[in-house]
Amino acid sequence: MALKGVLRTGLVQLRVLDLDKSLDHYRKHIGLTEVGRTEDGRVMLKGNDEFDHHSVVLRLAETPGLDYIGLKVDTKENLERFEAETKAFGFEIEEIAPNSDQPGFGRRIAVKLPTGHRIDLYSEVELAEKHPGIKNPKLWIEEPKGMDVSCFDHALLYGPNAKEATQWFVEVLEMSIVEVVKKEDGVENLAVWLSASNRGHDLAILDYDKPGKLHHISFHLEDWNAIGHAADIMGQYNISIDVGPTRHGVTRGQTIYFFDPSGNRNEVFCGGYFYYPDMPLRVWDIEHVGEGIFYYDKVLNERFLSVVS
Ligand SMILES: [Fe+2]
Repeated sequence: MALKGVLRTGLVQLRVLDLDKSLDHYRKHIGLTEVGRTEDGRVMLKGNDEFDHHSVVLRLAETPGLDYIGLKVDTKENLERFEAETKAFGFEIEEIAPNSDQPGFGRRIAVKLPTGHRIDLYSEVELAEKHPGIKNPKLWIEEPKGMDVSCFDHALLYGPNAKEATQWFVEVLEMSIVEVVKKEDGVENLAVWLSASNRGHDLAILDYDKPGKLHHISFHLEDWNAIGHAADIMGQYNISIDVGPTRHGVTRGQTIYFFDPSGNRNEVFCGGYFYYPDMPLRVWDIEHVGEGIFYYDKVLNERFLSVVS
């Protein structure tokens, strides 16, 4: 398959209230590896199966939530093309110098979405010091710890003007809408799932009245057994579970939602189908949204709809 343009969600900077508690959570329990600290005290982390310098950054702040998500683009030329097309589309952009606030990252283009979120595009990242094996590779570079997540997988964003933001992802970044949940009118979309590749989704957006909100960031696990192991870790260390283990109707992924110590929702996720751009759009009516989100229980809990960071 010729995968071009946006490759994947590859970076997330998250606000947390307490660095020590957060590091216990993301490093010891979720199983990310600390790559290092920035001069201003942010912590850079990565999953065991990621080649890029880092993927998750924790920033100490007074409120939890999302600073931004980064999408990796295949070439400098496509990054420049997306920059020009984003300007023409009418979204505000900001240039971030290489190796500045994100060590190891090349030039970034920060795009301001009408949902209140910031999406950074970049094409060059240094290889991580502890990257997966390349020559006669072993399974691990370091023995797994905690839930042993392989990588940062996707995020669900809540904000206004989701329709306009979705247009940019589709028309400029050439991402595909994989599934949608319709609003009560049966016409407009309440939520969309967007893929840049063969994955079921890289980002999802839900139309919401408050701007810039994060519903969850998700980490990839190998299989259903790993989801069970992750649930055991959550039980062992009294991690606050939101929902699961269960399965989504949308994307068919197997999942657990839980909270970090600052109240940011996390997910561990595995399975689901391979997506190809020639597949028809899958559509959920609002009456079936419970089944779409939680396939077994078929009901959304109140927290899922109202708790965001
Ligand atoms: Fe998710």
